[in-house]
Amino acid sequence: MAKKLCIKTYGCQMNVYDSGRMADLLAPLGYATTEDAAEADLVILNTCHIREKAGEKVYSDVGRLRNLRAERVAAGGAPLTIAVAGCTAQAEGEEIMRRAPAVDLVVGPQAYHRLPELIARAHRSKGEALDTEFPAESKFDHLPQQSRVEGTAAFLTIQEGCDKFCTFCVVPYTRGAETSRPVAAVLAEAAHLARLGAQEITLLGQNVNAYHGEAPDGGAPWSLGRLAHALADVPGIARIRYTTSHPRDMDDELIAAHGTLPALMPFLHLPVQSGSDRILEAMNRRHTAADYRRLVERLRQARPDLALSSDFIVGFPGESEKEFQATLDLAAEIGFAQAYSFKYSPRPGTPASMMADSLSEEVKSERLARLQAVIADGQRRFNDSCIGRTMPVLFDRPGRHEGQLIGRSPYMQAVHAEVPAALSGRILDVTIESAHPNSLGGRLAADPAEAAA
Ligand code: SAH
Ligand code: SF4
Ligand code: F3S
Repeated sequence: MAKKLCIKTYGCQMNVYDSGRMADLLAPLGYATTEDAAEADLVILNTCHIREKAGEKVYSDVGRLRNLRAERVAAGGAPLTIAVAGCTAQAEGEEIMRRAPAVDLVVGPQAYHRLPELIARAHRSKGEALDTEFPAESKFDHLPQQSRVEGTAAFLTIQEGCDKFCTFCVVPYTRGAETSRPVAAVLAEAAHLARLGAQEITLLGQNVNAYHGEAPDGGAPWSLGRLAHALADVPGIARIRYTTSHPRDMDDELIAAHGTLPALMPFLHLPVQSGSDRILEAMNRRHTAADYRRLVERLRQARPDLALSSDFIVGFPGESEKEFQATLDLAAEIGFAQAYSFKYSPRPGTPASMMADSLSEEVKSERLARLQAVIADGQRRFNDSCIGRTMPVLFDRPGRHEGQLIGRSPYMQAVHAEVPAALSGRILDVTIESAHPNSLGGRLAADPAEAAA
């Protein structure tokens, strides 16, 4: 009988990618996916551990699933297997098993390929199904190919783990040491995704620009810049993005690629975290605010229409008002097209969690609000600056109104325009006429008949 699998995904794009791969892995075992936990035989919580709120989420979710299971069993229904995967699983696997006995199995991000065996083990005897090893074999060699692409965009993990050890961050502990997938494996997966309809590929890695994958000919490892050039030659792949980058790993080859490789989209997520050198040092980011400004300048020289997004943390231990002001200044000066900002959250086991001078929630909230106002202003300015420009838009979804399609600009903005449905899946030049907080509106630069030619 067909079984149903429900995966709830939290955290970053890497978890989204992993959830897809887990679904593909379990499909041959008879699991069809569902969005509704109530009708599932197996629920996988793919967790994120990055901030405290994210890490605690798993316990409330498990509580709800436990009740669901109890109700169902009482009504004579099928049992429900509860699995916890992802970064919280890796960081707190044993604690989860202890604190939440309703959980049947725990699997860390590097052990997903062993899921079928773990499920069988959990069904045989509870309490033995915990796998948070960092196995010597790579999960990528044991996972089936992706089975589908939604729309025209796909994620492709090329690098995992992190050796940077920023003092606030759990990722080096939850995802392990930095590893890169071989070039040949990446190119094969990209070609496969293109055959499934992907035109736009986002390369993923916790430190994606530290990529140094084994060369196809056994020569020196390839950098991300070189890989991007090879990916642009894969038939069907029109657009390449990558995330997340570390400023320290932005090498000359990659910067140059932004100028010479049209397929490389002019939108870059480049987290800076803070504009204060003292805080950057305490965070172990190993660059200064001036380094970051210079890097942005070089990128804009290579690609003048490059737009940037970033991540910020406010209220790092000991952050003074003046130091926070430096962050505001940097955010205003660079003018990010978009950015994420977070209140610092102390994470167990990280060096920053041991630092004194923690700030009150009030101060953190107040700083976050001020920073978010600057970021929102930058985003509005950027969207406004698009009015009057003509840019290529990849259309792949129906719009809200009849005759409309929605697509993505090079800068990841949603763009709606009057476009015949038959042109869905095409990249068309659009002249932007209106800007909204989270989207743009425009009209086809050429008449649709011409555009279709
Ligand atoms: N690998 C990426 C991002 C990792 S997590 C990078 O190096 O940029 C995504 C973002 O979460 C980080 O950029 C940071 O801004 C934020 N973050 C990480 N740890 C945090 C913590 N302890 N408290 C608050 N924000 C945090
Ligand atoms: Fe975390 Fe820093 Fe590594 Fe990014 S670079 S994953 S913030 S340790
Ligand atoms: Fe969260 Fe893990 Fe991603 S901690 S942000 S799911 S790498």
